[in-house]
Amino acid sequence: MEARNKARQQMSRTAAKTGPALSGEHANAHSIAALRRQAESCERCDLYKNATQLVFGEGPVDARIVLVGEQPGDREDLAGHPFVGPAGRVLDECLHEAGVDRSSCYLTNAVKHFKFEQRGKRRLHSRPNAGEIQRCAWWLGAELEQLRPDLVVALGATAVVTLLGRSAGVTKNRGDLIDTPAGYPVLVTIHPSYLLRIQDGDDAASERARFVKDLAKVAAYEADRVGRTQRRL
Ligand code: URA
Repeated sequence: MEARNKARQQMSRTAAKTGPALSGEHANAHSIAALRRQAESCERCDLYKNATQLVFGEGPVDARIVLVGEQPGDREDLAGHPFVGPAGRVLDECLHEAGVDRSSCYLTNAVKHFKFEQRGKRRLHSRPNAGEIQRCAWWLGAELEQLRPDLVVALGATAVVTLLGRSAGVTKNRGDLIDTPAGYPVLVTIHPSYLLRIQDGDDAASERARFVKDLAKVAAYEADRVGRTQRRL
């Protein structure tokens, strides 16, 4: 246990600054369900105009772990649920291998509407810009205020920016647990869609293993927290 605590301290840093989801003003509501109802009529940026529907966060309202992605993809936009497409499948498998139960986590995105470019019949993912991320932090910040989790996982660059600001980054902070003034740390890792884009088989396998190793920190953190709580009782 001592060794584990030491490892955690070594992994841990404190955020120099936080991003818009952890600072500034957020939506106000008495529950996640009420927030979602408010967000359904969101016109804070233009993304609602072309998206099929809002894709809000989902999961138990007493979840201790929150996973934050970038924005819904094509499948999520059509289904209205986060992480149900190819990236979600990779995430599910890697969480399982890391010993994290997806059904006990709350999954959400930095941006709640799908941004895309229409190319013929195909809708190609397009990255949300700084203004869209800032506007949508209104919802993510409120979700986090409601949930008050023990740990938040930032999946990829957009999630890192909205949670930790521009001074943090995936390459710089990969695998770090960053303490925040919100009272819970943010674990920085890649977005699972990155694994789908790697062409070389060996590289894909080693990057996937690294992602599972990052996610295993979630399981270790939770085990530590449960151990600490039990010792206090
Ligand atoms: N990518 C994301 O970041 N979020 C989703 O919900 C799906 C794909």
